[in-house]
Formats: sequence, structure tokens, C-alpha cells
Amino acid sequence: MNLNDGLKERRSIRKYRTDKVDKNLIENIIETARYAPSWKNSQTSRYNIITDEALKDKIADEATCGFEKNKNIIKNAPVLVVLSTVDKISGFNPDGSYTTSKGEHWQSFDAGICAQTFCLSAYSNGLGTLIMGIFDEDRVSELINLPQNEKVSALIALGYTDDKPKAPKRKDISEISRFI
Ligand SMILES: Cc1cc2nc3c(=O)[nH]c(=O)nc-3n(C[C@H](O)[C@H](O)[C@H](O)COP(=O)(O)O)c2cc1C
Repeated sequence: MNLNDGLKERRSIRKYRTDKVDKNLIENIIETARYAPSWKNSQTSRYNIITDEALKDKIADEATCGFEKNKNIIKNAPVLVVLSTVDKISGFNPDGSYTTSKGEHWQSFDAGICAQTFCLSAYSNGLGTLIMGIFDEDRVSELINLPQNEKVSALIALGYTDDKPKAPKRKDISEISRFI
């Protein structure tokens, strides 16, 4: 697959087939996602893979802030990835102070790059994904026993696609760019 085509063709998938996703395939995707750039190559993103139906349903029922759409998508997807970040490394000095005026911003920035790299790799491996930002961070952390020094950055649904959504309209180049 041509990279440029892949970048444009990947879509957010909200309907999945029931087929299970092989562990080796998920590891292949993570293998590629490791190549995402990060602050000082600190690689603070962690991929917590949930395939257990009971745990996935619990996250859907108890940690989606009452947002029914995400609840149903998590129940429907065969895999839920909790993307977490080892706290206070990306954007921080060794003494714990911020390196720049942007404070904690860089750790989310790194997580975003990892999320997209993961989703693109999944797409090139024939799988669909959805990044979800609406979730109860404390409840997700509790339910998966997340290490104390990590924060939940995003949830990502993963599975074989059962939908062919059209690309939502993109803004015009002139709206989003300035040649200064
Ligand atoms: C940070 C972030 C959070 C998002 N959160 C949600 C969400 O909670 N639920 C959802 O259905 N879609 C969510 N989306 C998906 C966006 O709606 C989607 O990417 C956008 O509409 C563009 O569609 P496309 O991904 O198919 O190009 C999120 C996307 C991003 C990047």
C-alpha cells in the first residue's frame, strides 16, 4: 500500500465483525507503532490489549461517561487498546521540572503520534480502528490495574471492519495553512 493513499484512506471504524484478532497480528502492529517518533526517543507509550469480553464490557458500561456511542463501539469491537503513557518523562527534565513552557503537553503529543501510527499500521494489516477520547480515566485505570506511574492517553477500538464509511469533509488547504 502506498503511504500517501493509506494516509487518506484510513477511516475511523465504528462497526466491527465478530472475528477474533490473532495475537501475532496485534504484535505486528505494535512492532510498527514502535517506530513513532517521540520526545528524546523516550517511547513512553504503552499498549494495554484487552480481548477479555467481561473486562471490555465493564469498561464499556462503567468508564464511558454515559456516552452511549462509545459504550456500544467498545462492546462491538473484538479488541480494546488502552493507550497509556509513562508519566513525567516526555517534556520533563531529569529533576522533574518542565523542559518548556508547554508543561505536560509533550506527553500527550507523543501519545497522539503513537495512536495514529498504531491505527495506520492496523489499517495496512487489514484492520479497522477508532481512537476514543471520551472515557473515565480513573475508572479505566482501576479496571485494568494500570501502573501508578502511567496515565490513560486514549482508548482505541480494533478489529475487522464491518463498515465502509466515507471520509468526513476536510477543510480546504487555504483554511488550514499560511505560507508566511
Ligand atoms: C483525539 C481523538 C478523539 C476522538 N474521540 C472519539 C470518540 O470518543 N468517539 C468517536 O466515535 N470518535 C472519536 N474520534 C474520531 C473522530 O471523530 C474522527 O477521527 C473524525 O471524525 C475524522 O474521521 P476519520 O478518522 O474517519 O478520518 C476521535 C478522534 C481523535 C483523533
